Amino acid sequence: MSRRALAVAGLLAFGCSPADTGRGEPSSTFLRAREGSPPAEREWRSYLHDPARSHFSPLESLHPGNVERLRVAWTYDSGDASPRGASQIQCNPIVVRGVLYATSPSLRLFALNAATGQELWSFGDAREPRPGVSPNRGMSYWADGDDERILYAAGSFLYAVDARSGLAIRDFGRAGRVDLAEGLGAERARDFVVSTSPGALYRDLLILGSRVSELANAAPGHVRAYDVRSGAIRWIFRTIPGATEVGAETWPAGAAERFGGANAWAGLSVDAERGLVFVPTGSAAYDFYGGDRPGDNLFANSLLALDAATGERRWHFQVVHHDVWDRDLPAPPNLVTLERDGARIDAVAQTTKSGHVFVFERESGDPLHPIQEVAVPGDGVPGEALSPTQPLPLRPPPFARQQLTEETVTRRTPVARALVLDALRGLRNDGPFTPPSLTGSVVQPGLDGGAEWGGAAFDPRTGRLYVNANDVPYVLRMFPTPRIRGPGGIGRAAYVMSCAPCHGVDRAGVGLSPPLTGLRRRLGPLEAWRVIRDGRGRMPGSDFMRPAELALLLYYLYFPGDHTARSEAPPADAPPQLGLFPRYIHAGWAKLSDPDGFPGSAPPWGTLTAIDLERGEIDWQVPLGAYPELAAQGLTDTGAENYGGPAITSGGLLFIAATPDARLRAFGLERGRLLWEAELPAAGFATPAIYEAGGRPFVVIAAGGGRLRQPSGSTYVAFSPAP
Ligand code: HEC
Repeated sequence: MSRRALAVAGLLAFGCSPADTGRGEPSSTFLRAREGSPPAEREWRSYLHDPARSHFSPLESLHPGNVERLRVAWTYDSGDASPRGASQIQCNPIVVRGVLYATSPSLRLFALNAATGQELWSFGDAREPRPGVSPNRGMSYWADGDDERILYAAGSFLYAVDARSGLAIRDFGRAGRVDLAEGLGAERARDFVVSTSPGALYRDLLILGSRVSELANAAPGHVRAYDVRSGAIRWIFRTIPGATEVGAETWPAGAAERFGGANAWAGLSVDAERGLVFVPTGSAAYDFYGGDRPGDNLFANSLLALDAATGERRWHFQVVHHDVWDRDLPAPPNLVTLERDGARIDAVAQTTKSGHVFVFERESGDPLHPIQEVAVPGDGVPGEALSPTQPLPLRPPPFARQQLTEETVTRRTPVARALVLDALRGLRNDGPFTPPSLTGSVVQPGLDGGAEWGGAAFDPRTGRLYVNANDVPYVLRMFPTPRIRGPGGIGRAAYVMSCAPCHGVDRAGVGLSPPLTGLRRRLGPLEAWRVIRDGRGRMPGSDFMRPAELALLLYYLYFPGDHTARSEAPPADAPPQLGLFPRYIHAGWAKLSDPDGFPGSAPPWGTLTAIDLERGEIDWQVPLGAYPELAAQGLTDTGAENYGGPAITSGGLLFIAATPDARLRAFGLERGRLLWEAELPAAGFATPAIYEAGGRPFVVIAAGGGRLRQPSGSTYVAFSPAP
């Protein structure tokens, strides 16, 4: 075959012409789905409904009077749930012009007829197989004439997909995708960086945060604006300032080159009229020891207001100084409008893992309710440099309990109470901001919050914010980083850093993570290599590790005896940073649980709260959800840990799943009364979307399970009132 013939054959094989940008023709079923679609605000065209992240649908046709008539209208099963309970779906779908876009457990993107659930197309890239490490919470829709794009991230790539045909837009980035590791600087190019929450659109920019490692080798948390058409980076905001930039004085010298994290993983909100993007950031790495990063560490744990066109900083507020509790800002802020002395004030409300809401005037950053710097304990582990004060809003009051006391320890059974009391008496427990300690410190609410990534809903008519929260205690125990000696020592160090948070420093297992002691008798090294590299079940893959590192890690796991004995504490004059490792590391993501695995505090363990943002008061709070095992014994109103957020209708309903008992619930907005619930095929650890299609109202939720000991699922379920 001639070269020319070869080229033609190649083009035929890929079904495109040389000038092809990948934009295909929409199918007739796609065009039919679009017929008669309603105006934009009656759909769900952005993540969490709109760029203000209101979670609010103006539909009046879902209301307390017809909620009893809700029935399953359609279901769509993508069929790729992990059989081992490993996969999840955290996606909040969008609905645009009659078409629903969503992602599956293995991060395939698909389009459905929003009225019927009929699949219109499906897009996937087999090269990016790490859903465990990097769930997808949603996507963005952008259009210019008939150039319509879905922008979504899977793992460490940002994709542009033709919204009508489901084909990759080939002139975006490289063949339709952009590698998120690019633009971090050459030396950081192989660092772990993914994106879990969708970006925010401003004109033809997609502004995107990232999720990075929480360890000492974390990539920097740059906020980046990508050109929606080409995928080129148009601006970068560095959340860890360079030597001459504002905030540098809150770090040791050379911070921008030495440290990572301070990343915005939870999503962003945009005020298009003012050209502002609001960016909530997480803690600096390493999360739990900051002896090597003395200072407040701006712009970690901050709400940033940036110029959306240029990335220039307008104002910021740091919610936690020098964080060592992993108190990331966990959700995109709500852009709200409130009344104050007869005037309308545009404001921004940020929920936190500690269970607070901070409210600021949008343009100036001035707090709408007073914020006080309160004195907090200053004695951390040796070498730590804690902030003497932390900011707390005086109003509204916190929506989660701030301290575990003997009074609020569980009373589920006498044995459970006795054992948790006993554990509590051995722990440091000095209230909010109790420093991490070698004996173990109580963190309440726990390391996941408080508020979490589901976010909060805002009703513009009442000025009320609706937030679901977790209310369970954790234990944060620190451990001296072992001295490194010999190949097993290096392996042990890598183990302690990357694996001990789940499997325990002593390899005895923590919570749901199995012990790794005696591994030799259960698992061949090749199979172990595969599990560690690719992940399995709830265990994330470690394919960011170099092969040599992995080999030393395996050496340690299979010949552990020689090294564990030498894990003595560093001498008092040891530097705060030992190579890649901080001087102290945390001993595991440990909940303070009773012997049966239920929270060590008394209920409620999960709550739903309505907050009057204008007055700064809590209007009502109710328990949210139940644990299936306890509900079977009649313990139903405990509330449960929950992940995923609410969606509300102007008809007066709040829909939320989020709980391990696999239900979608509807509460009355007025008083928080439970009005309706329906069982889902798996727990819905995601946020519902509310929309109109084919003249009917729908509420849809992803039932992906895969957390809190629940099986995985791969179904989207849409409900609509029966006639
Ligand atoms: C986020 C928590 C987490 C982290 C971090 C983690 N693991 Fe795991 N690991 C698990 C869980 C959960 C399982 C059980 C997986 C399953 O259900 O199949 C597991 C399973 C394993 C297994 C298989 C055990 C067996 O008996 O079959 C090995 C080996 C293992 N992990 C090694 C590691 C190593 C080495 C690291 C560090 C590089 C690591 N893990 C990091 C949670 C974790």
